[in-house]
Amino acid sequence: MEKDSKIPAHVSIIMDGNGRWARERGQERVSGHKKGVESVRTCLEAAVEAGVKYLSLYAFSEENWDRPKTEVDFLMKLMFDSISAEMESLMKNGVRFRVLGNKARLNPVLQDAVAGMENMSRNNDRIELIVFLSYSGRWDIFQAAKKFAYQYLSQPDGMERLEKENDFAAFSQFLVTDGVPDPDLIIRTSGEKRLSNYLLWQGAYSELVFVDKNWPDFGKEDFFNALSEYSSRDRRYGKVK
Ligand code: IPE
Ligand code: IPE
Ligand code: MG
Repeated sequence: MEKDSKIPAHVSIIMDGNGRWARERGQERVSGHKKGVESVRTCLEAAVEAGVKYLSLYAFSEENWDRPKTEVDFLMKLMFDSISAEMESLMKNGVRFRVLGNKARLNPVLQDAVAGMENMSRNNDRIELIVFLSYSGRWDIFQAAKKFAYQYLSQPDGMERLEKENDFAAFSQFLVTDGVPDPDLIIRTSGEKRLSNYLLWQGAYSELVFVDKNWPDFGKEDFFNALSEYSSRDRRYGKVK
């Protein structure tokens, strides 16, 4: 990276193309998911090297529950195994680990493993690794809207106050990403050019980079290239510069 390049505080990745990676090699889809874990490790290293403070990964969407049970089960087990296998290295490297999403849908054993790792790493502050699991943007906005409304409606003059409310930041506190800055950069691999229900609220002004490689082939150089691309973008937020 160039010395004067702008480093995004929060980089988010839609890790796509595991199935295609496997199919191209005549293998089962799940072998692509397995291989994809290596890219996670590589990107985490690259993010630390670059000085990124938050690396978030879209690992499993609410819609992904509708995939064949064997694939879903494999992905959940892979998540569990990866947490167990990486625990030591994450701690050694000062990584705070969190899972965000509709966690109630995860099986209790995985929920416990996640909670344990989140707890153990809570004071690490070199980088935050956020895994979005059972997540969708619409689900997030919807659950936040309900909590936001309840907060008012439980008060006598609540309806009136809710009518007048227009503080977006107050609403954002109910999203699962409360306390996490909006992603500066969202990368999607596999050549697809869509958000697939990811960070719909938080990504309002994210820079988007689409990469043609499948996730298991995405390496350090690709990560740094995306940062360079980000660095050349002019973020205007609707204003005139
Ligand atoms: C991304 O790879 C991983 C998940 C969505 C869980 P895919 O499994 O979507 O791979 P493709 O898009 O079918 O190639
Ligand atoms: C998006 O990928 C979800 C994740 C990467 C976890 P999908 O493969 O599920 O998205 P679509 O079906 O191509 O939109
Ligand atoms: Mg896909």
